[in-house]
Amino acid sequence: MKILDHEFKLYIGSREIEKEIDRIAGDINRDYRGKDPLFIGILNGAFIFAADLIRKITLPSEISFLKVSSYEMMQSSEKIKELIGLDQDIEGRDLIILEDIIDTGLTLKYLLDALSGRGASSIEIASLFLKPESFRGGLDIRYIGFEIPNQFIVGYGLDYNGYGRNLKNVYILNK
Ligand code: IMP
Ligand code: MG
Repeated sequence: MKILDHEFKLYIGSREIEKEIDRIAGDINRDYRGKDPLFIGILNGAFIFAADLIRKITLPSEISFLKVSSYEMMQSSEKIKELIGLDQDIEGRDLIILEDIIDTGLTLKYLLDALSGRGASSIEIASLFLKPESFRGGLDIRYIGFEIPNQFIVGYGLDYNGYGRNLKNVYILNK
């Protein structure tokens, strides 16, 4: 399948994604029993993951979104631009950050720095995808959907240069 100038092939189907999200939601429902977590979805990439995940959450909970922009074309630019939308009071809250994919982990590190010192009771991370080969570590990722090789993927919220977020399945760059 062609997106802009690149060919992609099917990598993970929507049913497999749904099963994994079921598992993560089950773990969160169990781990946060008796609590009232605040989910924080990271835009744009995590909007579909967040929408599907929270509909499987049976706890009283809230969701809010933040935007961190750090990616240009196919490589992590390592330049985090800015954080938009941090207007919610997070004091005393149990935060669960929802990310689409963690590559180097720099985006998340920046985010956690920005959130720290605002009095949250706990902060955990749920990411649908993780690229362990490029992840620089130092962060504890509590909930992970799929560990994938260090290759570019699109679909299910993830984009290539803005395109492909609408695809139900996940596709990988055809090399
Ligand atoms: P990091 O700061 O290197 O961890 O980059 C994380 C961000 O880069 C993610 O939130 C995505 O927006 C983007 N990203 C990383 N890998 C991919 C990919 O394979 N496809 C699409 N976006 C990606
Ligand atoms: Mg993202």
